Amino acid sequence: MVKVHLRKITRDNLKECLNLQVDNSQKSLVATNAQSLAEAYVDTNLFPFAVYDASVCGYEQPQAPMLGFIMYEIDVGGVGFIMRLMIDYKYQRQGYGRATMIEIIRRLKLHPDVEIIATSYRKENEVAASLYQSLGFTPWDIEWAQSHPTEIYVKLES
Ligand SMILES: CC(C)(COP(=O)(O)OP(=O)(O)OC[C@H]1O[C@@H](n2cnc3c(N)ncnc32)[C@H](O)[C@@H]1OP(=O)(O)O)[C@@H](O)C(=O)NCCC(=O)NCCS
Repeated sequence: MVKVHLRKITRDNLKECLNLQVDNSQKSLVATNAQSLAEAYVDTNLFPFAVYDASVCGYEQPQAPMLGFIMYEIDVGGVGFIMRLMIDYKYQRQGYGRATMIEIIRRLKLHPDVEIIATSYRKENEVAASLYQSLGFTPWDIEWAQSHPTEIYVKLES
């Protein structure tokens, strides 16, 4: 099974992050990384990370390309919410999406303020639906989800 290594987005890897692309058919499923980084710039509850293969771990300068991007939010209600996940189209279907979710869940479980781990995806996103279900996410019947009818909200069963 592949493993990932997460790093902060810095001046050194910003361009690579902005250049990551999903497939054209997936563009409506996730915000651009530029938008996510702009949101994180003004919201200190958002934590964006670059995704690398775990072989990069331990090197000051990554020896392999950035593969994807993930961003989570720690909200005041005790929710660790995985807001964004994307793997560049060139590296999809190699296990990196699943490995990134496993790593983020591991981190969120260690966070003292997080009591619920949750995420959402667009209704038509069958790949995300089945990936999250296989990781143990189940429908999250939270009131404000009703005002976002195009989105499915799920939370991790503890
Ligand atoms: C969702 C996404 C992150 C998955 O990344 P990935 O690296 O391809 O995922 P993995 O290789 O770990 O595959 C995870 C599972 O999804 C399946 N899968 C991935 N892409 C698929 C595709 N295009 N069609 C069908 N199944 C697919 C894999 O077969 C695998 O299933 P399995 O574990 O039962 O074998 C990636 O497709 C993506 O970036 N999509 C666009 C953005 C998006 O939808 N983000 C999530 C919601 S915000």
